[in-house]
Amino acid sequence: MANTKIIVANWKMNPESSEESKKIAVEIKNSIKSFNKNKIVICPPFVFLNEISNIFLKNEKISIGAQDIFVGDGVSHTGEISSEMLKNIGVKYVIIGHSDRRESLDSDSLVREKLFGALKDGFKAILCIGEKERNEHGDHFHEVKGQIESAITKLSKNLIKNLIIAYEPIWAIGKKESEAVKPEDLHEMTIFIRRVASDILGIKEAEKIKILYGGSVTKNNAKEIIEKGNVDGLLIGRESLKTENFIKLIKSANHMDR
Ligand code: 13P
Repeated sequence: MANTKIIVANWKMNPESSEESKKIAVEIKNSIKSFNKNKIVICPPFVFLNEISNIFLKNEKISIGAQDIFVGDGVSHTGEISSEMLKNIGVKYVIIGHSDRRESLDSDSLVREKLFGALKDGFKAILCIGEKERNEHGDHFHEVKGQIESAITKLSKNLIKNLIIAYEPIWAIGKKESEAVKPEDLHEMTIFIRRVASDILGIKEAEKIKILYGGSVTKNNAKEIIEKGNVDGLLIGRESLKTENFIKLIKSANHMDR
C-alpha cells in the first residue's frame, strides 16, 4: 500500500446543477471500479455533498471531502456548516485554507483554528499552503515556512496521522499545464516542507504527513509531477470536472514507480 496515491478532486464552485454533479460522480464511480488502486477524494460544493456522498456510499476507494469547515461553538451561526453535519452525511476529508479562501476570508489564525478543529473532530484535513510568487531570493520558502508554522505548531501527536499538506503555489493555479510547477522545484519544496514540519513535530511525526501538489495538473503532467516531484498525491481543480481526462489521470497514477 506504500505506493497508494491520494488524488483529490476539488470541484470548487462547480458544476452549476445537481444533475451535472451526479452525472460526473456516477461516471467516475463506474469507470474506475475495475482498475483504481489509489485513494480518490471528491470534494463537491456543500449543496451537492449529500447526494454525491450517497453515490459513493460504502465505496472504499472513493471518499467525500468538504471544501471548508466551521469549527466554532454553539448552534447559532447563520450560513455555516458544522462538523457534525458533515460527519452525518459521510464526509471524511476537509480542505482547509485553500488560497481562494485565504485571499479574502481565512486568516492564518482561522486556518489554524479550522485545522485543529477538523482533526480533533476526526476528519482527515488537507491543509493548503503555497506562495503567491517566486523570486530569485527564495522568499517563497519563507512564506511557506510561515504558513506551516502558523498552522501546525503545538499540534498534538495523535492528530498528525490525519494531516495532509497540499502545496499549491498560487502562481500555478488555474494556468496552462505547461505552467504547473517544475517537478524538480516541487521535489525541493517537498523536502523543505518536511524539514519545516520535522523541526516543529519531530522527524518521526513529520514522516507520517502526506504531501500533495495542486496547480494546473492535467492527465498529461500528473505522472511526472508525482514521480519526479516526490509527492504522495495531487489536488486537482479544473481537470477533475472533465471526467474523461480525470479518469485518464487516475489511470496514469496507477502506473508509478514511486
Ligand atoms: P487547477 O487544477 O484548476 O489549477 O486548480 C488547482 C486547485 O486550486 C485545486 O485546489
